[in-house]
Formats: sequence, C-alpha cells, structure tokens
Amino acid sequence: MMEFPKKLTAKLTERQANNALRKLPVPNGLIDLSSNDYLGFAKNDTIFKNAASILDKKGITANGATGSRLLTGNNGLYGELEDLLSDFFGSGSALVFNSGYDANIGFFSAVPQRTDVVFYDELVHASIRDGIGLGRAQSYKFKHNAVKDLSRQIDRVRESKMDSDIYVVTESVFSMDGDSPDLEALVATCETKGAYLVIDEAHAVGVFGKKGEGLMNELQLQKKVFARIVTFGKAMGCHGAAILGSDSLKSYLVNFARSFIYTTGMPPHSLATILSACEHVSATNKEQNQLRTNIDFFKSELKAHNLESHFIPSNSAVHCCLVEGNEKVKKWSQQLQENGFDIKPIMSPTVPKGKERLRFCLHSFNTEKEISAVLLQLSNLF
Ligand SMILES: Cc1ncc(COP(=O)(O)O)c(C=O)c1O
Repeated sequence: MMEFPKKLTAKLTERQANNALRKLPVPNGLIDLSSNDYLGFAKNDTIFKNAASILDKKGITANGATGSRLLTGNNGLYGELEDLLSDFFGSGSALVFNSGYDANIGFFSAVPQRTDVVFYDELVHASIRDGIGLGRAQSYKFKHNAVKDLSRQIDRVRESKMDSDIYVVTESVFSMDGDSPDLEALVATCETKGAYLVIDEAHAVGVFGKKGEGLMNELQLQKKVFARIVTFGKAMGCHGAAILGSDSLKSYLVNFARSFIYTTGMPPHSLATILSACEHVSATNKEQNQLRTNIDFFKSELKAHNLESHFIPSNSAVHCCLVEGNEKVKKWSQQLQENGFDIKPIMSPTVPKGKERLRFCLHSFNTEKEISAVLLQLSNLF
C-alpha cells in the first residue's frame, strides 16, 4: 500500500501538537448537555410511531428515494411536507434539502452572482462560509452582531458598485455562542440599503416562536427577509433542512442549486419523520415550555453561582462558558464528564484562538437538579 502523503501527515501532526486533533466520540451514557436535541424529539416515541403511521396510511413501503428529486426521487411526501412547511413557517414556499449544510452551500453558491456582494457575520456557520466560497460574488465579513459595522461597509461598497445586488447573511441564534443579532435593526438596515437579507434559523427552530417557528416569526419579521434556512436535525430531532422564500426563489434553486440537483432525494421515512415532528409541535407546546423553564432556571443558577460574567449572554438553548486555551477547556470538559455531565469543549480552530469554550446545550428533558449540579461543579473549577 502507498504511504499516506507526507503533507497530510504533517497537518495531522500539527493538529495533535495544538491539542486540536478531532476524533469521533463513542456514546458515553452521560447526562446530555451537549446534543442539539433541544426538545428530546430524536427519542420521542409519539413522533416515531406517527411517522410510521403516516407511511402506513399511504401504503409507502419504499426504503429509498431511488434518484434525485428532478429525476425519480420526488415522492409524494415531498409536496405534502413543503406545503406544510410554508404554512407552518409563514413563507411563500419551502424547498427541502438533504441537510442544512446542503441548503447553505446550495443557496450561497447559486444565488449571489459574479457582480454581487455578500456580507456575512464573522461567526457564521461553516456551511455558509463554504457556500460563499463556492460562489462567484465578492464577500466581506462584518463584526459579530454589529449592525453599524455592516451598514458602514454596505455604504462603502455601494459607492463603487451601484448595480450590484447585495446579500446579507447571519444566524438568528449562533450555534457556537447562543447569542442573537438585533434582528429588528438588521431588517431595518437591509430595507434602507436595499439589501437581500438571509437568516439561518437552525438553532432557533423549535426554541423560539409560538409553536417553534423560529425567532423571525416570534419577532413578526418573517415577511421581511429574502430567505430563511431552517433545519430539522436539531430541535426537530430528525434530519434535513428547508429554504423558505418566494415561489421564484424556489424555482431558481430547483434550477441552479447544485447541492439540490445532483444528489439522491431523502428516503420517505425521513420525510415522514419531519412531517410527524412538525405535527407534534403544532399540537403541543409541552416540550418547548419545559425547555424555556430550564433556560430561565439555568440563567438564575448562573447568577446564584456568580458565573454570569464567564458566559456569553444568551436567551437560547445554547450557553457558552469561555475557558481560554485548547488544553484547559479540554481538561475542564473531561472533569465535568468524569462527574457524569456530557459537556463538550469547543476548541480552536472551530472557534477563534483565545475564545475556546465549554458549550452547554439545554433540553426540555434536563432536570433542575442536573442543572444546579453541573453549575456547582463548574464554579468549583474556577
Ligand atoms: C447555523 C447552522 N446552519 C447550518 C447547519 C447545518 O445543518 P445540518 O446539520 O442539517 O447539516 C448547522 C449545523 O450545525 C448550523 O449550526
């Protein structure tokens, strides 16, 4: 067998030296304070059984999609799901993608054109960065959640690029920070400057909104954006994603988004699971209310343990405690894990050097006892 290329070995060695070598974890049976399963839907029996009954009632026994959606993979559940999604999220239309990663690379590689400009928050998810990287538009980052910086940059670019379409992209809840931009100010700025606003709601779905429709709906801003990206692999507990926008946007993506066109469609049982999860959140707020109670309790315990100043302010299910340095954050997470809590270290290069952190993901199924205990353990580490 040929030797593994030396240049690649050198890169792995460098990662190891920086204490940043990624390895796949094995299931550990610890108290879950790290998954994106905010509402416990990934293990929800009712959702599982209803998904099976959706397939049963329709006599669907297929295991796979058999092809891309433009060829043989567009089974009947897609239409039903996309109608339900556009209703649920209050958008003109919805187009389902195989994942949030696919949705973002599909959108950003296809929509902004060569002469256009994309502004993105410096901390947006890798899938958005990768999509922009695949596209042909010029792109500039703006400071995290800094609408004024964005506004200044748009003005500067407008001076020389009168005819460019401008796209602005950010997240309504940041995956590695848990915080949110001032979405009202962002919408107002984009309206004034004539920019197309795109919001990734991956970590807001299921958590914000009357029925979990996301933060844009909660703020009644859903009609004021060009597009939203919603994902189903987090609070909805399944897999897949959708881009919400106008009928024209849907038609454009069907024609030009390569991550939509050149891939096999989702198997019917995945679509039935998303349908079932949407039906479940429409029928009950039980899990969402419990999650909200736990978020409030977590925040009150942060105060009680004098930990507030170490955390990035957040109202979402994601709460991050800054612990500088890969070595230290890894050690602290190991100590919490030894005490029974699954808390993951988020290390550089996933986050900027010096901004390493412990990421606490809260769930509807976490108990107050667990939350108090883990924060007590954490306070003893400082
Ligand atoms: C903000 C954001 N967008 C998109 C994605 C990708 O979604 P998916 O896991 O469905 O590929 C993630 C996943 O971590 C995310 O955090």
